[in-house]
Amino acid sequence: MVDQQLHEVIGFPIGNEYDVTVRLMSPSDIPELQKMSLIRGQKTVFWYGAITLVAEFEHRIVGFTQYYISVDMILHSDTIRIAPDMKGKGIGGMLTEVKEAIAIKVGARVHMHMVSHNGEIALKKILTKMGFHLCQRHGPTEFWVKSFNEGDL
Ligand SMILES: CC(C)(COP(=O)(O)OP(=O)(O)OC[C@H]1O[C@@H](n2cnc3c(N)ncnc32)[C@H](O)[C@@H]1OP(=O)(O)O)[C@@H](O)C(=O)NCCC(=O)NCCS
Repeated sequence: MVDQQLHEVIGFPIGNEYDVTVRLMSPSDIPELQKMSLIRGQKTVFWYGAITLVAEFEHRIVGFTQYYISVDMILHSDTIRIAPDMKGKGIGGMLTEVKEAIAIKVGARVHMHMVSHNGEIALKKILTKMGFHLCQRHGPTEFWVKSFNEGDL
């Protein structure tokens, strides 16, 4: 589910069978996020460079994703990470859905997702299921893109 604040913004429930709550990051989450990041010693300021959503389960952060919406109304996603013991429970999919629901409310028309070429198959499964296609590949980075259709807006 999403917390009360996000529920008010999105206007409809999003959740899965696990009691996981998605909410906006607060600064006190940063030490826990730093431990979870794939980049060792990730600087504190990194967490202020984009909007960060966190997934919480039993008072522990079990996942996060970062995104921003540019002036041309493109939702840009880069990092997404789920704690190793919580993978495969639909949390990555849920974070992606919440991010899109917020972006659609803001007026976004396109979702662009950077993916590492040899990144996890689970992420590509999420993106394929949500209607993305692989748009371009630059070295080790793939750009996956999706347009929101009239029904989404
Ligand atoms: C990639 C990642 C974000 C996916 O999140 P997740 O919560 O584990 O994914 P979900 O549970 O929502 O599963 C998504 C789909 O992948 C499938 N899946 C999950 N684990 C899988 C695995 N090991 N192999 C193949 N498919 C897998 C699920 O069954 C699901 O497909 P379905 O909807 O058809 O059943 C997460 O695994 C992760 O943090 N990986 C490490 C960091 C990373 O690679 N990030 C991406 C680059 S920035």
